[in-house]
Amino acid sequence: MKISSAEFVLSAHAEDQFPRDGRPQVAFVGRSNVGKSSLMNKLLNRKGLARTSSTPGRTRSVNLFLIDGRFYFADLPGYGFAKAGHDERQRWADLVESYLAHALPGAQVVLLVDAYVGATPLDVQAYEYLMSFNAPVTVAATKADKIARGKRAKAMTEIRRTLALPEGADPIPVSAKTGEGMGQLWKTISAGL
Ligand code: GTP
Ligand code: MG
Repeated sequence: MKISSAEFVLSAHAEDQFPRDGRPQVAFVGRSNVGKSSLMNKLLNRKGLARTSSTPGRTRSVNLFLIDGRFYFADLPGYGFAKAGHDERQRWADLVESYLAHALPGAQVVLLVDAYVGATPLDVQAYEYLMSFNAPVTVAATKADKIARGKRAKAMTEIRRTLALPEGADPIPVSAKTGEGMGQLWKTISAGL
């Protein structure tokens, strides 16, 4: 997909800051450090747009980007960073829940799972939680460059089984490092816009 413009709009901390203009939204959700910001930058071909970090839990608000003036990308805070206390986790859940309640219908979710680590119990919880909103969810398996080509298919099947994805709905292996899977993920995202 050819992107002409991608601009940071705002970092939303509360419901009244979420966009209400009816443009479709694509929310990126996943464990902290799974590679959300890196993947968004790669999809948009903009190196420093979404801030990436090797310190988990960097993104604490919903960062919104307007793409080609047509739709939004939403970088949601990562879940499950080890140092988070109870209050912080609760704030995460409240923020994500109010964002989703607000953005749906018309929003789609890209759930990111680490291809190398596989789907964790928290990923399973997140997937079930997203399904309870009836949100269309695409699963992308990040950091696919860490898995040898010959082991890819098995890893994807394993993630599909663990998350109990429908038959045939294998996750899309992607890598922000090599650019693998960007075309396929864009195709899926575009279909839902
Ligand atoms: P939070 O905002 O903290 O939740 O993290 P995030 O999910 O946005 O992750 P981020 O994009 O900041 O990346 C986390 C770490 O993973 C960084 O050290 C990245 O360099 C690394 N990383 C991201 N994508 C890839 C990838 O495709 N391959 C490899 N090998 N490393 C990656
Ligand atoms: Mg991030």
